[in-house]
Amino acid sequence: MRLLFVFGVVGIMLLIAHTEAVRCNCNCTLNYIPLCAVDATGDEDTFPNQCALECYNCTHNKDYVVRRQGECSHTTTTRPRTRPISRTA
Ligand SMILES: *[C@@H]1O[C@H](CO)[C@@H](O)[C@H](O)[C@H]1NC(C)=O
Ligand SMILES: *[C@@H]1O[C@H](CO)[C@@H](O)[C@H](O)[C@H]1NC(C)=O
Repeated sequence: MRLLFVFGVVGIMLLIAHTEAVRCNCNCTLNYIPLCAVDATGDEDTFPNQCALECYNCTHNKDYVVRRQGECSHTTTTRPRTRPISRTA
């Protein structure tokens, strides 16, 4: 029973992924022309090229916009450190 349910879930996920792949233009080349993009929440991410970015935007329902050419720096300087230090020494 449970196994059947798992197969069902996987099947639905595959179906959704397939539908989105058709709906979105993910027919990308593997050219590596990195772009640094930022989404609505301020998350920076490096994408291998414009097409991959648009594909991700579409399949994940995201709103990444290109911030600059090249990879994002690993230290996100733009995002303020909002996380409080919870441990009181
Ligand atoms: C995907 O790209 C290839 C190579 O550029 C092209 O021949 C093909 O028609 C494209 N397919 C779609 C669905 O755009
Ligand atoms: C990603 O989606 C947002 C919202 O639809 C759009 O404004 C933005 O231009 C898209 N980015 C790319 C690279 O297509």
